[in-house]
Amino acid sequence: MGNSRFNIVSSSPEETIAAGEQLARHLGPGSVVALRGGLGVGKTYFAKGIAQGLGVQEEVTSPTYTIISEYEGRLPFYHIDAYRLQGDSDFSNIGGEEVLYGTGVSVIEWSERLSAMIPEDAIVVEIELLEQGQRNIQIRSQKI
Ligand SMILES: Nc1ncnc2c1ncn2[C@@H]1O[C@H](COP(=O)(O)OP(=O)(O)O)[C@@H](O)[C@H]1O
Ligand SMILES: [Mg+2]
Repeated sequence: MGNSRFNIVSSSPEETIAAGEQLARHLGPGSVVALRGGLGVGKTYFAKGIAQGLGVQEEVTSPTYTIISEYEGRLPFYHIDAYRLQGDSDFSNIGGEEVLYGTGVSVIEWSERLSAMIPEDAIVVEIELLEQGQRNIQIRSQKI
């Protein structure tokens, strides 16, 4: 993918899933995807798409109190929801670094809350609300 940035406009949850699915084709062992954007913008839908692209069969959900959920796909898939974390040390205590620097693919919702721990080569996906249910999905990659 190189050092790049591109935008996709999604008009439905299905299109957001499809965008995640496309991105999954560029991911490999150790990839980290940092998702940014407010409540309800579609971060979990995008994460569902990545999971589908990685061949995860189980449905990706957002359990209220689980920070790290692990799924089996062609690579181990970790869905991380940082919303309830109280800082970096909380995340370290539950084995966060091992996950982020391991050989699976990690996708992090509310990655802003973990900014110090996100690897420099993470792919950043910023989702913004447009009008009438549309979303602008900006994908930035540094060096993959
Ligand atoms: N284009 C779109 N992409 C994603 N979600 C959308 C879109 N349009 C409407 N929605 C709705 O927005 C909500 C997004 O939910 P979710 O992915 O859980 O958000 P987040 O994880 O960012 O809080 C869902 O209710 C979905 O049906
Ligand atoms: Mg969510």
